[in-house]
Amino acid sequence: MIVGAQWGDEGKGKITHYMAEKADIVARYNGGNNAGHTVNVAGQEFRLHHIPSGILYPETLCVLGNGMVIDLPVLWKEIKGLRERGHKVENLRISENAHLVMPYHRLIDQWQEGARGDGRLGTTGRGIGPAYVDKAARCGIRAMDLLAPEVFQDCFKRNIADKIGTYPFLSEIDKDEVVREHVQLARELAPWLCDTSVLLCRALEEGKEVIFEGAQGTLLDLDFGTYPYVTSSTALSGGAGAGAGVPPRHLQDVMGVVKAYTTRVGVGPFPTELTDEVGTCLRETGKEYGTTTGRPRRCGWLDAVALRYAKRLNGLTTIAITKLDVLTGQDPVRICVAYNYRGEPLESFPTNPRVLAEVTPVYRDFSGWTQSLRDLKSFDDFPEPCKAYLWFLEDLLGIPATLISVGPEKDETYDMHARGCRICP
Ligand code: GDP
Ligand code: IMO
Ligand code: MG
Repeated sequence: MIVGAQWGDEGKGKITHYMAEKADIVARYNGGNNAGHTVNVAGQEFRLHHIPSGILYPETLCVLGNGMVIDLPVLWKEIKGLRERGHKVENLRISENAHLVMPYHRLIDQWQEGARGDGRLGTTGRGIGPAYVDKAARCGIRAMDLLAPEVFQDCFKRNIADKIGTYPFLSEIDKDEVVREHVQLARELAPWLCDTSVLLCRALEEGKEVIFEGAQGTLLDLDFGTYPYVTSSTALSGGAGAGAGVPPRHLQDVMGVVKAYTTRVGVGPFPTELTDEVGTCLRETGKEYGTTTGRPRRCGWLDAVALRYAKRLNGLTTIAITKLDVLTGQDPVRICVAYNYRGEPLESFPTNPRVLAEVTPVYRDFSGWTQSLRDLKSFDDFPEPCKAYLWFLEDLLGIPATLISVGPEKDETYDMHARGCRICP
């Protein structure tokens, strides 16, 4: 299980790709193309939105689970893009239970954001929220409906008719064209549609290696994130049970992906945000611009209060630290170890956004380092202050940092488990 421990964009794509070398299956279980997971291989960059980050291994099965919401034309573009770059996508499997993001969802999402004015949530505008609303309201269209074009067409036209009273601009949608395009794509994708829960449960019973790749991050989770500035799905490890159709007892190892500092796209409270030149430096050095929308990401120091919360909610057993290289040159390097709220210390992460917006971070400062981490021969060559920063974080969370990433490429990763990590059980 690989899950984002912050506000998304922690480097889940890179870490999943790294781990997937030894996996039989990689499965997504939540979200849709609001996700942008980057995988870099031999200087080439792949930005994946629906497709799991194991797709570049020809033998690895990649599953789009039932908990996802899928925008079919966008998925098709992703598939074509991979094929044009010489990659096989025959190992894709799509849950027939997954819901579809339709053009009206996208238009409603964008309209709602505009209508919220200053109260906007900063969504990706991909129609994710409205698609999950229809799922919960039991009027969503599922991938399996594509296999019966008349069912698909009836459902689609009924949904537009129901929504047009509230959203008159939906009359712009060329209904026949949408039906034609989807029926055509359904023919292409039909061989990959199946009951992916059966496939995953069988693989797990057979002892195969399955990775569940979370999208978004803990603090964007619908229930436990900084509501209402969250996404509309369960981004926690617990979401994989329902979102992929597997019994939770299979989820044993939960790796939280932790960026060595914090970023957030969109609106909402962010206690350790840096609006000064340090924040700008992190954004530029870390190339912190959204993989999906290109928006600049807000940057700040690492927040261990939030990480402890992520550890508890996800049952993290290890962490993978990414983008440690981006901190090179900062002095001091800071970790938020507690919050103060109206003069009182706060032990745990508040779920009330009004409280979170008022807290002040309590920092522990570390000496910085100037040596580049990207061309060292071994972890032993890491600058001592950098090691001190890592060990402090491990001890604070009480779980080992089993992967340390110092660049986007797979080989820019230190596997601490292999070298016998400090606090492995
Ligand atoms: P995800 O959504 O969690 O998969 O993360 P994104 O792909 O949206 O954003 C992470 C960005 O950081 C991508 O551009 C990655 O290529 C890049 N990246 C991942 N790990 C590292 C690292 O250790 N160092 C640096 N410099 N970049 C990294
Ligand atoms: P990955 O998987 C970062 C954020 C949006 C917005 C909020 C709601 O790449 O880490 P939505 O479109 O989901 O209704 O937007 O959630 N958001 C993400 N931020 N990474 C993501 O995915 C995100 N997916 C959604 O910016 O604040
Ligand atoms: Mg991303």
